[in-house]
Amino acid sequence: MNAALDKAARAILRGNDRGGYTIPTAGLYPFQWNWDSAFAAWGFATFDIDRAWRELETLCAAQWSDGMIPHIVFWRPDPAYFLGPEAWASGTEPATSGISQPPVAAILARRIWAADPAAGRGRIAALYPRLVAWHRWWHLHRCASGVAAVTHPWESGRDNCPDWDVGLGAVDASRIAPYARRDTEEVDPETRPPKADYDRYMAILEFGRDCGWDQDEIIRNGPFLMADPAITFILIRAHRDLAAIGRALGHDVTEIEGWAAALTAGLPYLWHPGLHCHAARDLRSGAFAGALGSGAFLAWLAGAATPEAEARLIRAWDGVRYGIPSADPAAPGFERRRYWRGPVWPVVNALVAIGLTDAGRHALADRLRRETAALIRACGFNEYFDPIDGAPCGGRNFTWTAAVWLAWAGRDEGETG
Ligand code: SER
Repeated sequence: MNAALDKAARAILRGNDRGGYTIPTAGLYPFQWNWDSAFAAWGFATFDIDRAWRELETLCAAQWSDGMIPHIVFWRPDPAYFLGPEAWASGTEPATSGISQPPVAAILARRIWAADPAAGRGRIAALYPRLVAWHRWWHLHRCASGVAAVTHPWESGRDNCPDWDVGLGAVDASRIAPYARRDTEEVDPETRPPKADYDRYMAILEFGRDCGWDQDEIIRNGPFLMADPAITFILIRAHRDLAAIGRALGHDVTEIEGWAAALTAGLPYLWHPGLHCHAARDLRSGAFAGALGSGAFLAWLAGAATPEAEARLIRAWDGVRYGIPSADPAAPGFERRRYWRGPVWPVVNALVAIGLTDAGRHALADRLRRETAALIRACGFNEYFDPIDGAPCGGRNFTWTAAVWLAWAGRDEGETG
């Protein structure tokens, strides 16, 4: 059974390969996406180590001069996607979006290097300065509050999760010109963010574009600035992994260790005593998001889940058949098939499992692996799934789900790659 699925997963990665970079899925996402690519590389590392490094190299080749690695790289035009390069006006070559995305690349690059240390040494040594520059960009431009912020819900990778409702409520979208979405032609609109959210995504994007992606201006006066528990936890872990890579290469990593320590010290700002977990906060007003979201579960990735948080997270997980839900199934806003308001995402599960395994929480890690594998076995390599009945949602033949199968969910217990 696993052999047939392994073969299918490899075929998805090969089929979505556009020559040095991998699209998430044809039609819905026809370019290179940042965190999708890092997962693609992790999947490729199970059968083609050269191709794995190449994925990270093409991603890093789109780095901006200020160190930012963008969330989308538009290597070639494709009118099937809305919003394309003209909407972002990055002025870069290649054209890109103007925001970043969850910095998982160092976490996965360390694992890819471990998969074949000899093949990887030269490749990781060349990528290392670029990753350090990107992590410094996060530190300088997103972490001034003490924890990591996002300037657009798309920067979080979890576009419409309940975390952003409080910040989006303050965004004025009344001057947005009419536009036609393409995503809702590709997949069931009930599984995508609604128009009211999209209008606000557009308004935030236009602010950034109109100020020429001036980071100081976006942070000072932009319409949306929220502290994100997920990016904070991912960055803590990614800084530690990058420091480990640097140390192994013989570099001084004091600066990187300092970034991780500062974020760890900032975590109390995200602790929501009423929710008993970490939660997003609007940095303009200080208001907390009112519901548990998938970001809270990534405390496990950073080794930062307190016993109180862990009890709360497991209660939410127990509320569905297939963990981990992207929103609390007991909360009124839970929507089991709508993108990040309820569905289970195999990539989040893989990140959580990395943390659980490192912490020796093998029973929980294995439960998560089994639940993720059951979804993929029953329904295929979809983008995300209904956590109650396992129905496949979003895009099909999805790169990151195939990659997560190869590197983690389809492997035997204790074999996390
Ligand atoms: N997730 C956004 C989209 O759906 C952008 O990254 O297009």
